[in-house]
Amino acid sequence: MTRETVIFPEKRKKFYSLFQHLRNKPFFYHLKNNLNTRNSIYNDARRYDDIHWWKKNDLDFWTNIFSEISGNTVLELACGTGRLAFNLVREGADYTGLEISPDFADLAKKKLTKAGNAVSIISGDMRNFKLNKTFDLIFIGFNSFLHLLKDKDAISCFESVKKHMHENTRFIIDIFTPNPLFLYRPEDSRFPVLEYTNSKTDEHVCVEESNIYDRDTEINELTWYFSTKKKKDFAVEHFSMRMYFPSKMNQILIDFGFKIFHQWGDYYRTDLNEGSKLQIYDVQLGN
Ligand SMILES: C[S@@+](CC[C@H](N)C(=O)[O-])C[C@H]1O[C@@H](n2cnc3c(N)ncnc32)[C@H](O)[C@@H]1O
Repeated sequence: MTRETVIFPEKRKKFYSLFQHLRNKPFFYHLKNNLNTRNSIYNDARRYDDIHWWKKNDLDFWTNIFSEISGNTVLELACGTGRLAFNLVREGADYTGLEISPDFADLAKKKLTKAGNAVSIISGDMRNFKLNKTFDLIFIGFNSFLHLLKDKDAISCFESVKKHMHENTRFIIDIFTPNPLFLYRPEDSRFPVLEYTNSKTDEHVCVEESNIYDRDTEINELTWYFSTKKKKDFAVEHFSMRMYFPSKMNQILIDFGFKIFHQWGDYYRTDLNEGSKLQIYDVQLGN
């Protein structure tokens, strides 16, 4: 449980609704899930949308990819609050989104009901899902793949993805390239990361970040500290990301049996190179 959940009464409501969502699954299923993901940053969907007001540079990339695929069925894994879904549905996608956070899945559903019938948001884990159909495009956008903390998580995800691919399906992963300058910052220091306006209260919020990187597991444990002028650290949230270097991505994709058609280093499809900030893999089933 996060410090925020303990302190603020409105969070108790959220905590209660979390338990409502849990009632259909065995307790240990959720315990294991939470231990594996540890991402309290994804407990509040509205705040996620407030925080990511600036993230627009990938929208055209995904609609362009959609315009090139052989059909119109799209599966987005870890779809969040539906940030990327909206444009795809508008362009004619028969869209399915899979998301682990119940609060995020609910908000995505709410936002996308307006977009039409060709939308389905499913609560689930990208490490293990079964939808009994194939898709023309399957993708994992905006660093969500980095929440697969171990090789075995990535491989389970690939196994599920493969069951939903046909011979022309494109499977695309978009993640950032780990930057040693960022990973090896002093552990006891905080760094400004972003600012946003709380859409409920209109307050200006500043977010600082600290991180601890374990070079053996390649897992970066991040903490975000939320402050307003009136209240420092009114919320403190955690999340974990596995740092996948390009060599590792190549190894796990190829070892799994995927064929890599493109490795891009940005949303303009420049080939991946040593200076690339992003790694975008466009793969299909191998022979
Ligand atoms: C950085 S957000 C990206 C959300 C959305 N794709 C976007 O572009 O805005 C990462 C998302 O991954 C989800 N997530 C993390 N682990 C997951 C898992 N194992 N299965 C499904 N979703 C997961 C989180 O709940 C969160 O919504």
